Amino acid sequence: MDFLEQLTSHTSARSFREKALSEQLKQQLIQAAQSGSSSNFVQAYSIIEVKNPEKLAEIATIANFSGYGAEHGVFYLFVADLNRNYQIAKRANRDLAAFASMESFLVSVVDTTIAAQNMTVYAESQDLGICYIGGIRNDIFRVAEMFNLPQLTVPLFGMIVGYPNEKNEVKPRLFQDVIVQIDGYQEMEEVTLDNYDAVMQTYYQQRSNNTQQATWSQKIQEHFKINRRPEVTDFLQKQGFDFFEKNR
Ligand SMILES: Cc1cc2nc3c(=O)[nH]c(=O)nc-3n(C[C@H](O)[C@H](O)[C@H](O)COP(=O)(O)O)c2cc1C
Repeated sequence: MDFLEQLTSHTSARSFREKALSEQLKQQLIQAAQSGSSSNFVQAYSIIEVKNPEKLAEIATIANFSGYGAEHGVFYLFVADLNRNYQIAKRANRDLAAFASMESFLVSVVDTTIAAQNMTVYAESQDLGICYIGGIRNDIFRVAEMFNLPQLTVPLFGMIVGYPNEKNEVKPRLFQDVIVQIDGYQEMEEVTLDNYDAVMQTYYQQRSNNTQQATWSQKIQEHFKINRRPEVTDFLQKQGFDFFEKNR
């Protein structure tokens, strides 16, 4: 398959076959993840493979993916990890401030995400399916406790990788000229949004699974009705982050 065709046929998989991944394939997935770019080469992430069935079941309950068949594939927990860097740096300098900043936090989130997406792309090239699982942040304190996550680490999302039972229809993305703007920021025009809503409405009506009556705007309005997971701020503080450094 042409590479662009592979990328544009991505869909998340939510049902996995009882077929285990070979150890070699798992190593290659990690190799792909580690080959991504990394801000100043800090490599600020860790990837925890969750093998223990009880832990996996608990994570599935927290994150609402119990029916997906994650136990048939591999579940990786992606952790933004500045702790490793801190352990190295503190031998020379005990000041935590450079690690606890919003900037360092963003660097670790970006590094982690690039690694995960590299893994995704390689997995899909091998006829595997993947699903990111942000639902692990439904109980971020518990997830950190379950995996003994030390200070300056944050569990960002999980990822199920496995052989998918089926291939869902591709979700139509926003039009290119909404995403790409020339020489400056441009707000999306209402008529463009209406056109995209019509495309998405048809998609939701006609897809094979979980058909529904909805537009993209309605989904967005629904999603942002509430301030989700406000305790994440407390969690970051507990892990040693301090985003108010200007006031110190
Ligand atoms: C960071 C992140 C977290 C996600 N968390 C979940 C999740 O907890 N459960 C789930 O079923 N899908 C999850 N998804 C998948 C998205 O719902 C999906 O990517 C999006 O609807 C687009 O669909 P597609 O991937 O099939 O193109 C997540 C995706 C990302 C990028």
